[in-house]
Amino acid sequence: MTMERLQGKVALITGSGSGIGRATAILFAKEGAQVAVNDLVEEGGRETVRLIQAAGGQADFFRANVMNTDEVKRMVQQVVGRFGKIDILHNNVGGWQRDQHDTVVDDTEEEWNRLINLNLRGTFLLSKEVVPLMIKGGGGSIINTVTTNAYMNYVGNHAYGTAKGGLRELTRAMCLDYARYNIRVNGLVPGETRTPQWEASMKASPNPEEAISSLLRKIPAGRFSQPEDIALGALFLASDDSRYVNGHILFVDGGLTAGFY
Ligand SMILES: NC(=O)c1ccc[n+]([C@@H]2O[C@H](COP(=O)([O-])OP(=O)(O)OC[C@H]3O[C@@H](n4cnc5c(N)ncnc54)[C@H](O)[C@@H]3O)[C@@H](O)[C@H]2O)c1
Repeated sequence: MTMERLQGKVALITGSGSGIGRATAILFAKEGAQVAVNDLVEEGGRETVRLIQAAGGQADFFRANVMNTDEVKRMVQQVVGRFGKIDILHNNVGGWQRDQHDTVVDDTEEEWNRLINLNLRGTFLLSKEVVPLMIKGGGGSIINTVTTNAYMNYVGNHAYGTAKGGLRELTRAMCLDYARYNIRVNGLVPGETRTPQWEASMKASPNPEEAISSLLRKIPAGRFSQPEDIALGALFLASDDSRYVNGHILFVDGGLTAGFY
């Protein structure tokens, strides 16, 4: 008999039309959750739903841009209309610039605003809508996807690292504010994970082969992570296995941030 750790739960996962979000949506559905798949790109989101349903799971697609207040509000209403509640919110959307010109001098105000909106404000907007529902429903689990760059950044990645550093502190602040309502808010730090976004940024580097091998040498685990490795961390934070874990940032990075390697 398999134990389904998310039986009876409804999970909303932003950006689950690709990469880590898709792997997490598939795993959550396998563990019994009804999954609200969100993405900006309809094709990717619908493909995630198709993969879940083909495996016998339950999911539906909700298109929204997490940077847009009205679209976020509408989506949350639609998810509740479809599934009745939201027990798990995984704020997974995020992105960085593909070249190394994300610096104070080089970034236009528009680029700075976009990266902060995408990586930080989106989580604020989603949480603003979902937390009151969780309070009414007696609790929930919120997972915010941070990054190693919030702790040790690369050259030319300032707005991304700054936004994710803010997200780390938003996570801890939300823990303090909502723990009394039985809401747990934790962060998840993926290591170097082979997703479409990651592959694209490697390809955009001046010497992709060298970029990949020098990165690999820094990872104690001796391999890059797959989206499924990160999804297992999200499952732990979403399920009652982590029922006393709150305000924590979980590193699933193969030892990348343990020190120089
Ligand atoms: N891949 C890595 O190595 C890595 C490392 C650390 C952190 N992360 C973080 O993990 C998360 C997922 O990254 P990934 O590598 O799986 O990326 P990905 O690009 O493969 O997937 C992200 C998905 O989000 C969607 N999306 C983008 N903007 C959106 C918006 N405004 N509204 C709704 N959907 C939107 C995209 O269409 C895409 O389907 C991000 O927060 C990223 O910063 C990734």
